[in-house]
Amino acid sequence: MVMNTHSNPRITLVGAGPGDPELISIKGMKAIQSADAILYDALAGKELLDYAPAHCTKLNVGKRGGCVSHQQSTINELLVHCARKYGHVVRLKGGDPFVFGRGYEEIIYTEQRGIPTTVIPGISSSISVPALEGIPLTVRGINESFWVTTATLSSGELSNDIKLAASSSATIVILMGLQKIQEIMEIFKRHGKQDVPVAVIQNGSLASQKVALGRVDTIVEEVLQQHMASPAIIVVGEVVKLHKKFESEFFIQMAMQASL
Ligand SMILES: C[S@@+](CC[C@H](N)C(=O)[O-])C[C@H]1O[C@@H](n2cnc3c(N)ncnc32)[C@H](O)[C@@H]1O
Repeated sequence: MVMNTHSNPRITLVGAGPGDPELISIKGMKAIQSADAILYDALAGKELLDYAPAHCTKLNVGKRGGCVSHQQSTINELLVHCARKYGHVVRLKGGDPFVFGRGYEEIIYTEQRGIPTTVIPGISSSISVPALEGIPLTVRGINESFWVTTATLSSGELSNDIKLAASSSATIVILMGLQKIQEIMEIFKRHGKQDVPVAVIQNGSLASQKVALGRVDTIVEEVLQQHMASPAIIVVGEVVKLHKKFESEFFIQMAMQASL
């Protein structure tokens, strides 16, 4: 694509955390402070860019919200191009680069082209966003595991793992599932889980963070009423009951339904 102009091209994949810039690691911050170029995602906190050196080139390669939607192949090529041109490239990704972040694909691509690439893990939305709502993913005596699954496959279809998850007693954390929440809740109902508590959390860690609470058979209505939007995660499991507003909101919903 371009002549190799930099003597020491290298790439660091940095997990930025769920959105609040203060949730990046110290190591991730140090990488930003030594970056010659940063390629950042839509879900990475933009305030982090302020910590880059003045000469640093900053490129938004987000797949949502921006003016341009970048294909993964274009991002891969840009990474190599920028490393050769500028030197140290930080690839700043939302959450953790290896949790539905395509980080591994980027490493394979860049290393095959001779660019040393390292990863600095980030705090994934899958575990941090429930915590920020006061929902523990595991509680002794309530559950023994948690699953993190995507709802949506690259084909756009619903992941079959949702069916497997629905048959377990684990806490289920579903990413990229808001558009399919009705279909997902039908699966849980088919497994007799209509009363299991559910939380949908939008914009976790940001000032705009909000939550919809309900049960498998009520959450879709709640999501519609509260105009919940992406990015959001869905948490299904008995631990959701521990949310400090759970019972009161649930009883208000029940009372409203009874009065209709
Ligand atoms: C492509 S995945 C990337 C996940 C990321 N690598 C991580 O570890 O959090 C994007 C999905 O993560 C979830 N997500 C990411 N950040 C979020 C946030 N701040 N609040 C709620 N959900 C979030 C949403 O389900 C969103 O559709």
